[in-house]
Amino acid sequence: MTGSAAQLPQTNCAIWLSKFGSPLDAVELCAGPVPVPLAGEALVQMEYSPVNPADLNVLEGRYGQLPALPCVPGHEGVGRVIALGDEADARVSARFLGRRVLLPPGFGAWRAVGVARVAELVGVPEAVPAQQAAMLRINPATAFCMLQNFATLRPGDWLVQNAANSGVGRSVIQIARAKGLRTVNIVRRPGLEAELRAAGADVVLEEGNGLAQRIAAAVEGAPLWLGLNAVGGECALALAKVLAPSGTLVTYGAMAKQPLTLPNGLLIFKDLILRGFWISQWYRRAAAAEVEALFAQLLEWAAAGVLHTPVEAVYPLEQVGAALAHAQRGERSGKVLLRP
Ligand SMILES: NC(=O)c1ccc[n+]([C@@H]2O[C@H](COP(=O)([O-])OP(=O)(O)OC[C@H]3O[C@@H](n4cnc5c(N)ncnc54)[C@H](OP(=O)(O)O)[C@@H]3O)[C@@H](O)[C@H]2O)c1
Repeated sequence: MTGSAAQLPQTNCAIWLSKFGSPLDAVELCAGPVPVPLAGEALVQMEYSPVNPADLNVLEGRYGQLPALPCVPGHEGVGRVIALGDEADARVSARFLGRRVLLPPGFGAWRAVGVARVAELVGVPEAVPAQQAAMLRINPATAFCMLQNFATLRPGDWLVQNAANSGVGRSVIQIARAKGLRTVNIVRRPGLEAELRAAGADVVLEEGNGLAQRIAAAVEGAPLWLGLNAVGGECALALAKVLAPSGTLVTYGAMAKQPLTLPNGLLIFKDLILRGFWISQWYRRAAAAEVEALFAQLLEWAAAGVLHTPVEAVYPLEQVGAALAHAQRGERSGKVLLRP
């Protein structure tokens, strides 16, 4: 093993999920040995990992893809490489030893230390704040792909989204602003307008009566080619109603847990395009060069402060119960992170 033994932790601890259920009952903190990296592997000491809605869905056993149990949850996170497997050559050591890295899918980020394949690590420049890096792989990546892949938008064009104060929603606002696009942002409660405007939002509206008419009035009749839906139900219907003919509604979340129900006429007379997006599937299908370009751009924006996701609280792994309860609460001002 290559690395400084003085830096290596003596014990490991991790959050284990052994049966799906209510998030607070489903997990427990367990101590275990520090794993030894084999050839081609790195030992990574975790720094931060967020509790995302998808993590909660996995604990509940209600997600598009469930892991084999028992497992360590945590879809994403950031850590430092503290040792490499024996056969690591000098170039790999120079590139990764001591370096901050994003962990690959399937790593199970809610742990103190873990082993990952070096080839799957993404190096993080020191200019990127660690907490921001921990949240890059899922939400900003989802926002980037949805803005890139579903409509040809030019500077000045409008798009509309709901759950606009979510992690994804804020990334959409920030990336759209960086690309010169204009955003109509729907939220479900008052008090968020100033904050979202400061983040780059052009229009902020609350869910509720006459939403479609209020959106149309806000863009003064300009065509809306793209709608991003993370809510479902009535709010998604309002987005569909205001899209331009042949516009695209992308559904990527279902926070209201209500189905997306549309009048037939929206498809017949407006030829709306209904699409879905799942970042896990995108990572599986994308070419290596595409993924590399995505991370290069996200890391550059995160280093420059263009991308910034607020954090409401950081909990040690030992307080995972409090972290999960906090993450389940609505009306947060930012993300909940775990820190080993
Ligand atoms: N498909 C993909 O690849 C992908 C990738 C990333 C995320 N997602 C999904 O995107 C959604 C947002 O994720 P996130 O990490 O950005 O969320 P987040 O930062 O944890 O924020 C949650 C958001 O959901 C809103 N919300 C909660 N319950 C709601 C309800 N009943 N009706 C309307 N809004 C509600 C919250 O509003 P308040 O602040 O008012 O509580 C907040 O804006 C989740 O559904 C997540 O699973 C999907």
